[in-house]
Amino acid sequence: MTRGLFISFEGIDGAGKSTHIDRVAQLFREAGRAVVLTREPGGTPLSEKLRELVLHEAMDALTEALLMFAARREHLVQVIEPALARGDVVLCDRFTDATFAYQGGGRGFDWQVLAQLERMVQALPDGTLRQPELTVWFDLDPQIAAQRLASARVPDKFESQPANFFAAVRAGYAKRQGEMPERFARIDAAQSMEAVGADVGRVVSDWLKKVTA
Ligand code: TYD
Repeated sequence: MTRGLFISFEGIDGAGKSTHIDRVAQLFREAGRAVVLTREPGGTPLSEKLRELVLHEAMDALTEALLMFAARREHLVQVIEPALARGDVVLCDRFTDATFAYQGGGRGFDWQVLAQLERMVQALPDGTLRQPELTVWFDLDPQIAAQRLASARVPDKFESQPANFFAAVRAGYAKRQGEMPERFARIDAAQSMEAVGADVGRVVSDWLKKVTA
């Protein structure tokens, strides 16, 4: 049986990851793989309800972090773990790195507390932690991201934050990459959509060759 694969996609709001995730899903489907395309916060009926709350209600920073991890726990148990056990490809639009970047970097919430919650929520029976095997990070200057978002839809709670919030989120992603460099692939998201797409395709196929060799 083919083994499951777990890939996450990250970046500040406006970095343009959504289009590229759909293309990656298409590539895997063309290669005959079953793909589970999902997102955080969200991915189960309960987690989607939690998403509504965290994206639209003002709340205490610890409450926000706990709700992100509560939604993640449900998502892992109901969707991600069963999919990986079946041998599917799980493509997740944001995962725990977003909590470190947004709640840790952006909000300035305690990094070590997030690490404790991560250990609790992502623990596997063998004592290791469930993490994406590859994280594609769409890295972009917050000023450029803000220009892109200005012409987009009505902003949610995070999207309406000022540029310095996103500079701190970006620093959070960079810190996380520094802690776990082996699974991160940084993409320069300031490039044209085509160039970004080509980079994403290359990163995913190079990684696939490595893990399936
Ligand atoms: P996003 O993934 O950008 O979805 P959409 O494209 O529909 O707007 O929105 C999710 C928002 O939630 C984004 O602003 C980042 C934020 N977020 C956190 O603050 N912490 C987290 O742990 C996660 C997963 C997301």
